[in-house]
Amino acid sequence: MPKPTEITPAFLANLSQIGQEVCPYRVGGRQAILVNDIDLAKAVLNDESTYKNYYHPYTELSSAFERRAEFVFSKAGSKKKSTSIEISKIIDANTDKLVSSILGNSSNSGVCITDAVRASLLDIMLEILFDCKIGKHSAELTRALACIEKHHATKNSLNFTRFSKTEIFEVEMANSVSRAAIDILVSKSRHLKRVRTTLGDHRFLIAITRTLQKAYNTPAMVLSWSLWLLSRHTLEQEKLRGEILIHSEVGEFLELSKIRRLNLARSIILETLRLLPGAWALGREAVRNSKLAGRDIPCETIVTVSPYAMQRNERFWNRAKVFDPSRFDESRSNSKKPEPFFPFGLGPRQCPAQSFAMLMLQYIVGKIVREYHIEKIDSDDLLPTGYVALRPSRPIKLSLRHI
Ligand code: HEM
Repeated sequence: MPKPTEITPAFLANLSQIGQEVCPYRVGGRQAILVNDIDLAKAVLNDESTYKNYYHPYTELSSAFERRAEFVFSKAGSKKKSTSIEISKIIDANTDKLVSSILGNSSNSGVCITDAVRASLLDIMLEILFDCKIGKHSAELTRALACIEKHHATKNSLNFTRFSKTEIFEVEMANSVSRAAIDILVSKSRHLKRVRTTLGDHRFLIAITRTLQKAYNTPAMVLSWSLWLLSRHTLEQEKLRGEILIHSEVGEFLELSKIRRLNLARSIILETLRLLPGAWALGREAVRNSKLAGRDIPCETIVTVSPYAMQRNERFWNRAKVFDPSRFDESRSNSKKPEPFFPFGLGPRQCPAQSFAMLMLQYIVGKIVREYHIEKIDSDDLLPTGYVALRPSRPIKLSLRHI
């Protein structure tokens, strides 16, 4: 039984190659399994009474959400045109800011986009969900939350080793920066103030930081990966530019309802989510004894279902490591929904914002590609690393050149 010191995407992908439906391993002295079959994955993710997800209910914040958050959390997206335009404007203005910050920092050696993308997505989500702008604090907050995420994922929950003094200091600093930024956020929203009073400080802090992590960090990583992939696949970039220009003029305001018609933009985001799914491993804990594929799963076993491992497995996908958006082309006559493909999870805890997330990412990538060539700057030796979200082993660097 393999005993990794740290659970990484590469470890899960290798384990999945073994080919068994259920692959056992041990982590931090505990028994764990990787579920490696789509029907078993569905069974696990649908059975919350046996396989528990300790993630919090984001609905604790629901009374603080703006009316337009309905659009974010509804499967079909709101039918109301005015809400769609309002949200398009928020995404549009923040994409302009993101592009300016990339261009402003650009040198011959390109620019690291990861932090800028994170801060922009946080700004978008804060404005849509809570009608709040926290200015320069969004950059501080995203850096602090990234530091907390890294330490918790690598040291605390997976290795169970103790933090060193320096690490404790780093995490405490990050905690106090994020608390200060969240205080500013609360001071700008009377709805959040009321929810904090109702939930109490501690529960509120957990609800807001975890909801924000979900709302900006995963999509920020997916956006960064899709820009990185496009910088390496210039033909796809050209085709996408062509598709967007058929549907709009350069300089014209894009609107979310138009984005729905962009088949290639959608396929590019889906193919990014197949190869580099932001949510790379979904964790559950068995809360009673059970059986999977004839194997006994004792209570307290860690149960991992990994979109990353299954979506890159050659047993399930042809040319699994190759970036090929045409796999998701809806106009293909014999197109059938590919499986296993579940970047937004499955069952009752699947992402409540998946339709919105797709539209938002298509929008931002579409707007950038319409006006800029995304150019490759650095070497290809970038590895996907897992903390909570799938992130690059070093910051993604690229450059934008106006068309
Ligand atoms: C490309 C972008 C995104 C991806 C790949 C993604 C992926 C996922 C996945 C896989 C889950 C299920 C986790 C599990 O079963 O353990 C999830 C849950 C969740 N997502 Fe997303 N997500 C994205 C964007 C968003 C956005 C924009 C929001 C906005 C608020 C959001 C809010 C949530 C929330 C609140 C949950 C928890 C639901 C629950 O526990 O019941 N996500 N997401």
